[in-house]
Amino acid sequence: MNRIHGKLALVTGASSGIGEACARRLAAEGVDLALWARREDRLARLASDLSREHGVSVHLRAVDVRDREAVADAAAALLSQVGPPQILINNAGLAAGLSLIQEGDFQDWDRMVDTNVKGLLNVTRFVLPAMIEAGPGHVINIGSTAGHLVYPKGNVYNATKFAVKALTEAMNVDLAGTDVRASSIDPGFVETEFSAVRFHGDAERAADVYRGLQPLSGDDVADAVVYAANLPPHANILHLILQPTAQRNAYVVDRR
Ligand SMILES: NC(=O)c1ccc[n+]([C@@H]2O[C@H](COP(=O)([O-])OP(=O)(O)OC[C@H]3O[C@@H](n4cnc5c(N)ncnc54)[C@H](OP(=O)(O)O)[C@@H]3O)[C@@H](O)[C@H]2O)c1
Repeated sequence: MNRIHGKLALVTGASSGIGEACARRLAAEGVDLALWARREDRLARLASDLSREHGVSVHLRAVDVRDREAVADAAAALLSQVGPPQILINNAGLAAGLSLIQEGDFQDWDRMVDTNVKGLLNVTRFVLPAMIEAGPGHVINIGSTAGHLVYPKGNVYNATKFAVKALTEAMNVDLAGTDVRASSIDPGFVETEFSAVRFHGDAERAADVYRGLQPLSGDDVADAVVYAANLPPHANILHLILQPTAQRNAYVVDRR
């Protein structure tokens, strides 16, 4: 049963990877879209594909979620031109670097905290009140297995994803008495631009992350997102951990 047809979903970080896959999968279910990321050319190509293939309406905006004023403007434009989304997918995020905490790079730390935690908060704060008022609604945060178990040199990325886990639980608690629910979908290895971004464009090092195993695809994660979004209003997934079968946990990875 399709319970999301005709709804509006705002997807942040929709220009690649998991966010783009969510946009494609939601459009196939007949969900209208608002797509945010910094690379507007990519959003424009995706929007024209999706409206042509699925007949959904797509509103797009170049937004850096770290820029609170830009997020406020984008949210105001969305709410006045299209209306409040019923589904908010807080996906924009990244890992930057992989170093011992005593050798960490301040710029990498700022990028991760400002995007994964403060960016998610910026978007949520400017969009959630209208979602509550319009209700029912659903906030789906893309967390990570990195938010459940730390691994060596993961330190600040781990901390940001532990924060996403805490914020998902906090949203659920604070949204009691409203018709809005909150979930996190927490993947392990997903083959996207994530590792290339983490290693500052070092493609060889990025490819090595997935050596000898079949990682998840963005589509695998999008399936889980749509499953959570499509649950009936009385049911909610709080956290859904989705790993490649080969990734038994952060430490036991079956590479062949
Ligand atoms: N891949 C994995 O193994 C994995 C595992 C667990 C969790 N995750 C999480 O999944 C989410 C998506 O990552 P991905 O794997 O799909 O990586 P990706 O392919 O690099 O996509 C990241 C997306 O986030 C957007 N983004 C980054 N910084 C942004 C900013 N300041 N403002 C607006 N948008 C921004 C990027 O768009 P622009 O560059 O165009 O702005 C891009 O669309 C992240 O939160 C990540 O932590 C990934």
